[in-house]
Amino acid sequence: MNTNGLSGEVFYPSKEIIKKANSKNYTDMVKFASDDFEEFWAKEAKNLHWFKKWDKVLDDSQKPFYKWFVGGKTNIAYNCLDVHVKTYRRNKLAFLWEGENGDFRSFSYFALRRETCKFANVLKSLGVKKGDRVTLYMGRIPELAIGMLACARIGAIHSVVYGGFSVEALHERLEDSQSKVLIVADGAFQRGKIVQLKQIADEALQRAATVESCLVVKRTGQPINMESGRDMWYHELMALPIASNNSNLEIMDAEDPLFMLYTSGTTGKPKAILHTHGGYMVGVYSTLKYVFDIHEEDRYWCAADPGWITGHSYIVYGPLLNGATSFMYEGAPSYPYPNRWWSMIEKYGINILYTAPTAIRGLMRFGDAWPNRHDLSSLRLLGSVGEPINPEAWKWYYKIIGKEKCPIMDTWWQTETGMFMITPMPGVPLKPGSGTFPFPGIVMDIFDENGEPVAVNEEGFLVIKSPWPAMVRTIYKDPDKYVSQYWSKFPGVYLTGDSARRDKDGYYWIIGRVDDVIKVSGYRLGTAEIESALVSHPAVAEAAAIGLPHEIKGHAIFAYVILRNGFEKSEHLVEELRLHVGHEVGPIAKPDHIELVDSLPKTRSGKIMRRVLKAKALGQDPGNLSTLEE
Ligand code: WT7
Repeated sequence: MNTNGLSGEVFYPSKEIIKKANSKNYTDMVKFASDDFEEFWAKEAKNLHWFKKWDKVLDDSQKPFYKWFVGGKTNIAYNCLDVHVKTYRRNKLAFLWEGENGDFRSFSYFALRRETCKFANVLKSLGVKKGDRVTLYMGRIPELAIGMLACARIGAIHSVVYGGFSVEALHERLEDSQSKVLIVADGAFQRGKIVQLKQIADEALQRAATVESCLVVKRTGQPINMESGRDMWYHELMALPIASNNSNLEIMDAEDPLFMLYTSGTTGKPKAILHTHGGYMVGVYSTLKYVFDIHEEDRYWCAADPGWITGHSYIVYGPLLNGATSFMYEGAPSYPYPNRWWSMIEKYGINILYTAPTAIRGLMRFGDAWPNRHDLSSLRLLGSVGEPINPEAWKWYYKIIGKEKCPIMDTWWQTETGMFMITPMPGVPLKPGSGTFPFPGIVMDIFDENGEPVAVNEEGFLVIKSPWPAMVRTIYKDPDKYVSQYWSKFPGVYLTGDSARRDKDGYYWIIGRVDDVIKVSGYRLGTAEIESALVSHPAVAEAAAIGLPHEIKGHAIFAYVILRNGFEKSEHLVEELRLHVGHEVGPIAKPDHIELVDSLPKTRSGKIMRRVLKAKALGQDPGNLSTLEE
């Protein structure tokens, strides 16, 4: 990498940062991995425990159904816990946790392994077997990590549903995954209020037939309904003799499924992305080690939600695989005051902070005085994920939070990629708003409509040209869709759904989604989900949703609705529709604005032309309208 004469605004890392970095041989790493990426990943895999070593690093005989570490036997939970308990890390803190209401808990590796084993035995006693699906629906509390690890330990497939989702979203995911058990919290603290998770779950369970048991973690303590024969308290089960500390470890094949996670795509219902024990483990372990430069003494804080992939890979699995100490915080960033985050960085001596542009913009709005009151000097590295970070927010983060000494790791990746794909490492010169380069061994490109690489600075489809260990293996129960959605536009090449450009220094700049996915505060929502929630209301005949730029959330949701005959347009009805979407999908999906209209722009084949709606809302020229029917 030639770092002299870079174009545009460039921020160089300090000598101390480079000297300390796990990636101090960055250039050699890149070269080694590009010469032989299988060898690169095999070398990383050797740092982890395998009950039986793999026979073959990569099997590409059934593309795009790639297999990694074929024949290898392992278990990711064993690597997260048991491996460390056998070393000096036995008494090291795995998690420190602070509740929004000030509660505090911590778990050593020893304690986390014990709780995980106990809970794994509870699940077993309820009949959960290898390959069964278990859904988890909670706020950001330690039991979520314990539940995930317990599933992994016995080979059950976990499906975490984000605690901000609501009845229909939860129901759909329970139904699609055919979950046997639901693990839920009674409630979650959020901005000083209680989110009634159990109540939402009760409603979803009425519509979901496969769930036999519902285990309830007591977090908020308000009265809730407990249905006898179905609902049981977590703490009561954990006090029974069945919750023994026996290991109960299932030896897993590298390609055995670890979890599924629902995410929104272009069409229809959310789809379940499937990840596995072996490749996923190797991918998240090594990307975190190099990018966030995990050292023994660090306190690392990924402020994302465990309900999305960032939490899976970089709150739960990645940090534990590295034997790191992580901090977890339950609540809202500005509760009760806008200094909440900064005060916790000072209090716990956080060294690494990983968050999303929407949170940075939200906190930036309160001014510099809030962070400036606190000693943030423990920070060494910062991170960003979820959407492009605007240079203004980047610079604020860099200057006010990082005091111009903490490089910002702007990590581009997806639920499907499982791990960081485009990202700097601590020694890489940074350009605000660019994720810099692909991770070593990752081969990416930007294509035009015909599958040809675009010229410098030209926008095109961001694609991935070779397999990587933590890649999605399939869409659960729908392998055809896996092929058509990701591997068909350009055969043999993975389509990310994003558009991007590359500057003359080779830096990647993500522009945004090219499909019907909206990123609201970093959360991924399909226009189809919002539309089907609207149409499920008796007053609605048709609906179209689009994302429009929003200063803090990145995108705001605008919806256009045609009413059924016999319904009158009114402000009251608009509000009712917003609440309805909130109830069905979740508060994050509530449209910011709903307009009641008499017609929608459609193609002759009946497809809604969202780009026309977008252009109109922004006062721009809608472009070519030749295919417009109405
Ligand atoms: C989409 C994936 C992977 C964790 C969070 C989101 C956007 C993600 C960045 C970034 C610009 C980003 C892309 C991507 N995205 N990180 N650093 N810069 N855009 O996972 O919910 O699967 O969303 O998030 O559009 O396709 P996800």
